[in-house]
Amino acid sequence: MAAPRLGSPTALDIVDGVDLTGKTCVITGASAGLGRESARALATTGAHVILAARKVAALRDAQDWIRSEVPAASMSVVELDLTSLASVRTAAAVVRDLAPQIHVLMNNAGVMFTPFGRTADGFEIHFGTNHLGHYALTRLLTPHLAEGGRIVILSSDGHRMSDVDLDDPNWERREYDKFAAYGASKTANVLHMVDLDRRLRDRGVRAYAVHPGVVATSLARHMKRDDFERLTRLEPADPDQERIDVRHDFLMPEHGAATQVWAAVSPELADTGSVYLADCRIRDDVAPYALDEEHAAELSSLSERLCA
Ligand SMILES: NC(=O)c1ccc[n+]([C@@H]2O[C@H](COP(=O)([O-])OP(=O)(O)OC[C@H]3O[C@@H](n4cnc5c(N)ncnc54)[C@H](OP(=O)(O)O)[C@@H]3O)[C@@H](O)[C@H]2O)c1
Repeated sequence: MAAPRLGSPTALDIVDGVDLTGKTCVITGASAGLGRESARALATTGAHVILAARKVAALRDAQDWIRSEVPAASMSVVELDLTSLASVRTAAAVVRDLAPQIHVLMNNAGVMFTPFGRTADGFEIHFGTNHLGHYALTRLLTPHLAEGGRIVILSSDGHRMSDVDLDDPNWERREYDKFAAYGASKTANVLHMVDLDRRLRDRGVRAYAVHPGVVATSLARHMKRDDFERLTRLEPADPDQERIDVRHDFLMPEHGAATQVWAAVSPELADTGSVYLADCRIRDDVAPYALDEEHAAELSSLSERLCA
């Protein structure tokens, strides 16, 4: 395996000198990996950080770890299962009680390459967890986003593996392919970001999509040995895009979380939105289908219907 990449900034480097006292950041998937690391970094800014995920015990462990590193951290824990719209509604109500105004909403939680399965509401697991659960949560929290607020959505260069099929988003009429299912959900994440930024920028709320790099977390828990090899042989859905290469240097979470934290706090992005970020900069090597505003609006209408 390649060596960890050193030399890139950590999430803690990004928040050095940043003061978010009095502000609230909501992070989904904050019990592990990139979400937990982002929570630690944002806690150092004085912000109230709301950690959301499925397993409350894991969230409490994350909270204890962050407090051991940042004794003054202000945190709350909210149970959220993105595979259940009922759970999303309950979690959103708890978040609204905790924080009348939200300054950063970081839609970070995710699953990858899972065996075929459906959520409580019948959605395919990747599309349901990575996109629709976040779509529903964001819709419920949008009225509470402060002016100057930011929505940071974790996507992936894996979006290049597949566009989202609006005629069969839940894999009811095709043979299931875990690579395409993850890729489609990560394309949906970028499209969601495009539509949110278009709709909310006049209110002073901007949205960003992030590829964190290839990061050593538990996300790959469903991968088998030959999946790594298969991944490198996959043709991208758009022929002008590069292939996915997971064999290059991987990042540790403290470095991997840098770009999403940069998206949340960087003054450089204050007048920008609807962009795809990686390595703490705006990147333009995005599959065109992921940035198409019309496609984004269509996905939004579909998501609205499915989450009604
Ligand atoms: N790691 C990488 O190389 C990489 C590359 C590109 C993109 N990303 C993206 O980065 C994001 C974070 O990934 P990670 O690497 O930090 O993964 P991770 O270590 O596996 O953490 C995933 C987090 O999501 C939560 N989660 C999963 N299913 C959930 C559900 N149904 N409801 C609520 N929370 C749920 C998990 O908590 P519980 O299951 O305990 O609730 C956990 O906190 C993902 O969106 C991923 O697609 C990661």
